[in-house]
Amino acid sequence: MKPIRVALAGAGNCAWSFSQFVAQAQAEPDTRLPGLMCHTVGGYRLADVRVVAAFDVDEAKVGRSLAEAFTAPAIAATGFTALGTDRDAPVLPAPLLDGLAGPLGSVVTPAAAAREATPEEVAKALVEHDADVLVIALPTGASRAIRMFAEAALTAGTAVVNCTPEEIARDEELARRFTQARVPLLGDDLRSHLGATTLHTALIELLLSRGLELSRTYQLNVGGNTDFLNLADASRSATKFASKANALRAAGATDVEGVAGPTGFIGHLGDTKLCFASIRATSVLGSEVEIDIKLTVEDSPNAAGVIANAVRAAKTAADRGLAGRVDGPSPLLFKSPPRGLPESEARAAFLAFAS
Ligand SMILES: NC(=O)c1ccc[n+]([C@@H]2O[C@H](COP(=O)([O-])OP(=O)(O)OC[C@H]3O[C@@H](n4cnc5c(N)ncnc54)[C@H](O)[C@@H]3O)[C@@H](O)[C@H]2O)c1
Repeated sequence: MKPIRVALAGAGNCAWSFSQFVAQAQAEPDTRLPGLMCHTVGGYRLADVRVVAAFDVDEAKVGRSLAEAFTAPAIAATGFTALGTDRDAPVLPAPLLDGLAGPLGSVVTPAAAAREATPEEVAKALVEHDADVLVIALPTGASRAIRMFAEAALTAGTAVVNCTPEEIARDEELARRFTQARVPLLGDDLRSHLGATTLHTALIELLLSRGLELSRTYQLNVGGNTDFLNLADASRSATKFASKANALRAAGATDVEGVAGPTGFIGHLGDTKLCFASIRATSVLGSEVEIDIKLTVEDSPNAAGVIANAVRAAKTAADRGLAGRVDGPSPLLFKSPPRGLPESEARAAFLAFAS
C-alpha cells in the first residue's frame, strides 16, 4: 500500500504523541498495539503513515527536525518511544496570526520566520511535500490561524483533519468549496480515544436506553499542558464549551441542565488530565439515580488514538472519491461533526466505513 503522507499544523503535544504512535506502528507493523481501535482503515495500517512535515511558530521548534522540535520546553506529553523514519521531517514556519494570543504568549516565543511566513508558502509547502492529509492541531480559539490552514489545504488539494473546535467542517460555505475541489474535510474537535466526552456520553446513552430521565449533569476537566493553559482564557475556551455541549446533545442529553468544559489549569499536572463528571436521573417511581465519576488519563496519547483513525479515514475518503464533509467516520472521531450520532451508531458507521 502507498504510504499516507501526513503534515501537522501545530507541532505540539497531540502531534508529538501521534508521531510516537506512528513510530511504534512502523517498528512493529503487524503487532496489535494497545489503544489502536482498527488495525486497518480502508486497508491502511498505522504503519503506512509517514509524517512528512510540520508547521509551527515556536522559536524552539521552527527550523528544527521533528524529533528536535518535540524536545521544546512547551512539550509536556511523555516521550514513550523515539521517532523512526519521520524523525528528520522539517518543522516549517507558519504565519503567527492569532496562534499565541492569550496565556500562550507568556510561555512560547514566536520565531522571527513565523512573523514573515505567508499562507501561500504554507500551500506551496503542502504541495512540495506531497501531503495527502493535513492534521490541524492548533490552539483552541486561534480562529484566524486555523482558517488559514484550512484554506491553504484547499489550495493545495490536501485533505483536512480538524482537531480543534473551530467550525471548519461545519462551515457550509467552506465545505461546499472543498466538495467542488474534490478534497475531503473531516472535523470538528477531536473526540479523545477514551476521554471525558466518550465516557460521559456512553453513560448518558446507557441511562437513556433503560428509560431513565436525565435531570442534571456536569463535566469538569483540569490539566497542566499548554492546551489547558490556553483554555484557561475564557475568550479561547468558548468554542470548546459549545463543542462539548454538541456532543452531549448528540448522545440524547437534550432538555437537561448541563455544563461541560475545561475548568482549570493546574501546572503540576503536566499532560495528566482529570475529569470529574456527575449525572442525575430519575428512574422507576421517581427514584433518583446518581453517578459520580473521576477519570484520569494522559491527555495527548488519548488524542493520538483518534488521529490515528482520522488520518486513515481522510485518505480512504480521498481514495474513494469522497469530497467535502465525510459523514460516515466523523461522528465517532469528532465531538462536533456536521451530523452527530450516539456513540453506538457512530461506532457502527465508522466500522462500516473502515472495512
Ligand atoms: N489533547 C486532546 O486529547 C485533545 C482532544 C480534542 C481536541 N484537542 C485539540 O487539539 C488542539 C491541539 O492540542 P495540543 O494539546 O496539541 O496543543 P499544544 O498547545 O500542545 O500545541 C499547539 C501547537 O500549535 C502551535 N501554534 C500556535 N500558533 C500556530 C500557528 N499560527 N501556526 C502553526 N502552529 C501554531 C504551538 O506553538 C503549539 O506547538 C487544541 O485545539 C486542542 O483543544 C486536543
